[in-house]
Amino acid sequence: MKAVILVGGEGTRLRPLTVKAPKPMLPVVNRPFLELVISYLRRHGIQDVILSMGYRSEVIEEYFGDGQRFGVNLAYVVESSPLGTAGGVKNVEKYIDGTFFVFNGDILTDLDLGAMLQFHRERGACATLALTPVDDPTAYGLVETDPDGRVRRFVEKPRPDQITTNLINAGTYILEPEILEHIPPDTYYMFERGVFPSLLDRGSPLFGYPSDCYWIDIGTPARYIAVHRDVLSGRVEHLRESIPIGTAVTAGAGTRIDPGATINGPVVLGEGVQIEAGARVRGPAVIGDGCRIGPESEVDGAILWRQVRLGARVVLRECVIGNNATVDDDSVISGGAIVSDGCRIGCRNHLDRAVRIWPDASIAPNTISF
Ligand code: GTP
Repeated sequence: MKAVILVGGEGTRLRPLTVKAPKPMLPVVNRPFLELVISYLRRHGIQDVILSMGYRSEVIEEYFGDGQRFGVNLAYVVESSPLGTAGGVKNVEKYIDGTFFVFNGDILTDLDLGAMLQFHRERGACATLALTPVDDPTAYGLVETDPDGRVRRFVEKPRPDQITTNLINAGTYILEPEILEHIPPDTYYMFERGVFPSLLDRGSPLFGYPSDCYWIDIGTPARYIAVHRDVLSGRVEHLRESIPIGTAVTAGAGTRIDPGATINGPVVLGEGVQIEAGARVRGPAVIGDGCRIGPESEVDGAILWRQVRLGARVVLRECVIGNNATVDDDSVISGGAIVSDGCRIGCRNHLDRAVRIWPDASIAPNTISF
């Protein structure tokens, strides 16, 4: 069966991490997120994948090529202006020849696709939406279903007294090709606000498939950090074999750890990483290729992309540091802060409270404190 992955969004909530690369290409445990999604699809027997692209599509195409290296056949369709989730699927119509899957490209899940397909077929659905439970239903669009799974209504961001379910649209669909007839061509159109409500109005067989398996959307900085924690602690079942978990520490070729450094897993170190004397790395943490952790520096629950340079006594806690960034001596970066590609953070700065530093910025010594 074919799958369409929607990867055309601008990822505005994740800026500035998405200034240079689209959201699906952000590294998760040193691999582009989309690579994890594609390996999940392959595990479920999906080999033909169509990428519906827009924003910064060239970064995706350059990395994945024809897909053979990743065990799939990839087709690319690029829209010249954003068409939305449904418009993006209509735009790949020429590749669709039967029942097909659609995936939002920012979701990591252990959903059983075979079981969902069986559910879809048994009910003769024209569309089946995967549903996932959330703790705070007031922040989402809820999907109310009958006991057999037939969608009864959509409730957008309900008040507490309107809450009748905690299930939301999980961004994975099985669709029959006839659905495409209900999507206008070359027009911005959404599944969530356009296609599904209108199918419901027409009385078409629209079903919700609930599952409480692992599910996360990496659309915000907090969730981008959280997905690392989840993967490294083994919560994502299909990644347990390929990514070290628990207390494991893995290091790529050419990585050098000074005997006076301490590392507590789960920690993934890329290739050519240098960890100097007295440094402490505490997992879950990921340190990308070519990074240098200076003497007495501390990395705790942080994500470092490639070629990050830390001076002496730097502290990084629960933060993201982009490619080729430098953090000079005695600086502290914590509290979900983001330092983008190519930044230079001078000595004795303290970045905290989810502050976001745009690419290539330079912060002079002693300038920011919280
Ligand atoms: P935000 O700007 O932070 O909301 O992120 P986003 O642009 O990625 O939007 P959202 O998280 O709602 O998108 C869900 C999925 O649909 C993501 O995988 C997006 O890449 C994809 N997507 C969103 N808009 C479009 C679009 O206009 N065209 C295509 N092809 N995909 C889209």
